[in-house]
Parts: sequence; C-alpha cells; structure tokens
Amino acid sequence: MPLTRRSLLAACASLSLAPPVSAAARSARLGELAARSGRYFGVAVTHSDVSDQARHIRLFDGECSVWVPAWQMKWGALVQALGDDPDYRACDAIVASAARRGKRLRGHTLIWHEHLPAGAERLSTAADWRRFVAPHIAEVAGRYRDAIFEWDVVNEAIEPYDGGADFMRRTPFYAMLGPDYVAEAFHLAAEAAPSARLYLNDDHLYYAEDWQERRRTGTLRLLERLIKAGVPIHGFGMQCHLDTRFRFDERIFRRFLQRLEDFGLTVAVTELDVTEAPSAHGRSMSERRRLAAAEVQKVLSVALDSSALAGVVTWGLSDDDSWLRRRAADMTDNQGLPYDDAYRPAPMRDALASLFASTRTRHST
Ligand code: XIL
Repeated sequence: MPLTRRSLLAACASLSLAPPVSAAARSARLGELAARSGRYFGVAVTHSDVSDQARHIRLFDGECSVWVPAWQMKWGALVQALGDDPDYRACDAIVASAARRGKRLRGHTLIWHEHLPAGAERLSTAADWRRFVAPHIAEVAGRYRDAIFEWDVVNEAIEPYDGGADFMRRTPFYAMLGPDYVAEAFHLAAEAAPSARLYLNDDHLYYAEDWQERRRTGTLRLLERLIKAGVPIHGFGMQCHLDTRFRFDERIFRRFLQRLEDFGLTVAVTELDVTEAPSAHGRSMSERRRLAAAEVQKVLSVALDSSALAGVVTWGLSDDDSWLRRRAADMTDNQGLPYDDAYRPAPMRDALASLFASTRTRHST
C-alpha cells in the first residue's frame, strides 16, 4: 500500500508518536488551517479571556475563528436563584468582543442538568416548564439570535445508568415533560433563533468500552426519534473530553459517525481536551504532552474523515486555564490542551495543525 499522508498520520497515532507537521502548517493559525478544509476551529472562552486586557487575548484572537462561552450562557450563570432576573453582562461582553474581532459564536447551552439556578432542581411539572424553562430558552435564544450561529440546545441528555428503558438521563427537565422535553427545547429554540443551527451535545461516545457503547445506543435512539418526529435539529456535538485510559477501536467510532451522517446531521467536536491517565505522573513532561497529542491524533483523524464534521472546539487553549485541573487532586497539572502553562505551543497544537492541513475538504451542506 502506498504511504499516504493519512496512513502516515494513522501509523504515528497507533505508535503514540508525535505527528509530522510541516513548517507551513506550524506557522499558520489553526482557524485558517481549519477554514481551508471547510471547517472551523474554536475555543471555549470566559468573558475575562476575551476582554481587551486579557493576558492571552492575542492567542484567543489569533488561533480561532469561533468562540464558545464556557460558562456564561448556562442557566445557572445567568440566573442565581429561580425567579431572579437574568444577568446578561458577562454574555454581552463576550458577544461584543467576538463582534469586534470577527469571531463567530457557538452558544452553550440552553438546557443542562448541572449548574441550575438555585431551586430549579425541584421543578417537576409541565406547569413548571411553562413558567420557568420555556421562557428561559425563548429569552436567551432570542436575545442572541443574530450573534449565535450554532446552539447546543440540550446538553448531556443521555445516561443509560439512570435506569430508564430510553437510556435518558433523569433530570428536572425529564421530570417536567418526560422524554419530550428535548423536542420541546428544540422547537422553542428554533422559534426564537430561526437561523441558528441547533445541536444536541453529549460526551463519552468514542471509546470501545461497553458503557460507551450503551451511550452510543441511547444517543442514536434519541436522535432517530427526534428526526422521525420532524424536530428542527441540525447537528450533533461530540464533546470529546478524551481520556488516555480507555480503549479506542477505530471501526466502532467510524460506524457511529456514519450513523450520524446517515441521519443527515452535521457533527462537531465541541469540547476537546485530554484527561491523562494517573500513570502519566511517572513520565517526563514532554512525554506526557506527546501522549496527549497522540490521543487527539488517534480520535480526530477518524472524526475528520467524516464529511459531516463541521468544526473542532477545544475546551480552553492553554493548560493553566483548563477546567480539568479543578476536577481532582491528581489533575492539578493535567496536560491536555494545545498550549502549555506558559502559552507555548504543545505537541497537541502540532497534531491539530497537521490534521487540519491533511484532511479532505468538506463541502458544507
Ligand atoms: C465546565 C466549565 O468549563 C467549568 O468552568 C464549569 O465550572 C463547569 O462546566 N461538559 C460541558 C461543559 O458540557 O459545559 C463543562 O464546562 C465541561 C463538561
């Protein structure tokens, strides 16, 4: 078999080698490289990341064509306690900074069971939905209808281990409307923001582990129901919080991506980063960064083969900012983003650059 660039990249990934990256790809911005293949590259930001005074505003501005508020658009970030007026100042600051710098914005997220306003965990009736949830979706999606090109309408709806036959996560939203809450949320978002592309977003769908297979099953069943019912859904967001502890089987992931493509959905990698295995701590820093890059290489080289893949977003740009570091005591120096603590490019940046530079051009649908 002739050695193509793609087979070379795949071979590097399987051997956990640093991917080859050309000087041209290294010097180009990730947003530009992604755009050349018909895709976007984006990053999750906070309002302080993108203020004019931010230490790394040039990095956020330079590398990305898309920004996603990591926190500020969530219900509990806007509304402290149920019934309070929403505080849009931080969101508005991100929207204004994005407009000044010509960034497109993904919205994250209208419905999520975490970080709710105080008191929302007790909501349980259809009347509660009409009084609190429906107005929240309509108001936020409507306020930013001209600013947001893609919304994660519902985040993390699947949890097979919550015990339901439908594999859906039991949340207050589920308590209020049953499984129909997802469709309702999409209809409300479509009405309020008619030109936005609307996504279902979820995680733990890439590895060969049985528990991830159950999540793939639940996700595909839910998507099938939504599409058959004519719900206005355009895309599926794969968070891609990768984890070096799990087993990857390219064929399984490819099959899942194909099913999404067959549904006619656009796909995006929406929250890319890498959790290192605890065993990483015995290794040198450069080895750890190389392994994190190889993990991205392995999974994304398959994802980027799909013509449905519209873009890639990393959940932060530099490790000092990573939410993963606040997750557990042994993760406080996790190496899982494209830039290190001192804003120097890490091997993961090279991996993304060479992936974008070598991928087939996508023709958007
Ligand atoms: C995280 C943010 O990065 C943190 O700042 C916040 O404290 C918790 O949420 N999956 C998601 C994201 O969909 O919204 C989460 O973001 C990370 C996991």
